[in-house]
Amino acid sequence: MMTFNGSQFQIQGLSPLDLCSEFGTPLYVYDAQKIESQLHLLRGSFASVPALRINFAVKALTNISVLKYMQSIGSQADTVSIEEVVICLKAGFAPQDIGFTPSGVAKSEIEQAVALGVKIHLDSLPLLAWFGDKYGASVPVGIRLNPHIMAGGNLKISTGHERSKFGISIEQLSDVLNIANQKNIIIEGLHQHTGSDIKEAKTFLEVAAILFETAKKFKDLQYLDFGGGFKVAYQDGEKGADMPTLGAEISAKFNEFCAEYGRPLALWFEPGKFLVSECGSFFTTVNVVKENPSVTFAHVDTGLNHLIRPMFYEAYHKIENISNPNGAKKQYNVVGYICETDNFAEDRELPEVREGDILGFRNAGAYCFTMASQYNSRVRPAEVLISKGKAYLVRERETLEDILNRQVLVDVI
Ligand code: LLP
Repeated sequence: MMTFNGSQFQIQGLSPLDLCSEFGTPLYVYDAQKIESQLHLLRGSFASVPALRINFAVKALTNISVLKYMQSIGSQADTVSIEEVVICLKAGFAPQDIGFTPSGVAKSEIEQAVALGVKIHLDSLPLLAWFGDKYGASVPVGIRLNPHIMAGGNLKISTGHERSKFGISIEQLSDVLNIANQKNIIIEGLHQHTGSDIKEAKTFLEVAAILFETAKKFKDLQYLDFGGGFKVAYQDGEKGADMPTLGAEISAKFNEFCAEYGRPLALWFEPGKFLVSECGSFFTTVNVVKENPSVTFAHVDTGLNHLIRPMFYEAYHKIENISNPNGAKKQYNVVGYICETDNFAEDRELPEVREGDILGFRNAGAYCFTMASQYNSRVRPAEVLISKGKAYLVRERETLEDILNRQVLVDVI
């Protein structure tokens, strides 16, 4: 577990400073046992549901060794691109343990997914009609519905409202049923994902009520997929989704519904953040401290190229001065080295920051490395997975060759 020991930030007894000197910075570090305890917490919260399936939303953290580890502790996977599907297969997931929930992809990608044998969720009427023409009853399929509910931390990560591109509108249900009847499609699953950073049990229960009502119209169902979106805490004192309470409430309603439906269904979830956000830390070195008349800047050896969440979503990441935890507190703007505004934090109180200090960012497991780029022709960081006190390098830091790898130097005339 990742713990604060007084001023000591340790990961399973390992010192981040030692990890940084061994692997360099910027560096992503993940705690395998934290992932496992989150998975157990989730499973335990839904213990009264006979058939529960947790599909890790692999877009949150797609490192192949992390995926292999997750498979080994009993997680299934949810993917959104054929590339993610193939990575999951390579990591050891069986095809039937992989869900595929893409948005608006080419039909060729769906064909590949069918050929690979994964569980597909279709998200539009034209695709459903095409699928029916091509596969009829030979490939049971799930559909993604849009329940018309506004939920989630901000508009960019709200996916179930009326104007969102995701899913088939709940108001087009009769079209779904007509197409399925005409083309003999077996709809085995109903799926929805309303958004990310959802805290209130109320939202999940509202969505559940819609899915239950809808499910009564489908006779071949095997599962209902409630998506992901469980909020985790980012700041001290902040609360994430109350999983045990939420689990007990949804489980009771789900079991009641199955009794009404006449046979047991499986309950699926697709959490990303809940499983991996807190397992990750991101370590950076301070390049320079610049005191302007009104602001003191701590420039770190990274930027929006490696961690874009603060700039893209105004996401909060707790920052700690690992190498000077007892320094006098001062306010800093922690900023990157990219030639574009890339503020990680403004007016953040930190123990005195000096050139060469190591700053650690919390909640760096989900949507951090996977959203990294090579902007400004900067290489992407290394990733280290800690398990049972041992550090495994699971991605080498890129080199300039990786940046130039696919570029073609031509003499243009
Ligand atoms: N299922 C589907 C179909 C999804 O699109 C997503 C996330 C999830 C599950 C998992 O959601 P989670 O449990 O992680 O909230 N980059 C943003 C989050 C975008 C989420 C996109 N879809 C961020 O860093 O806040």
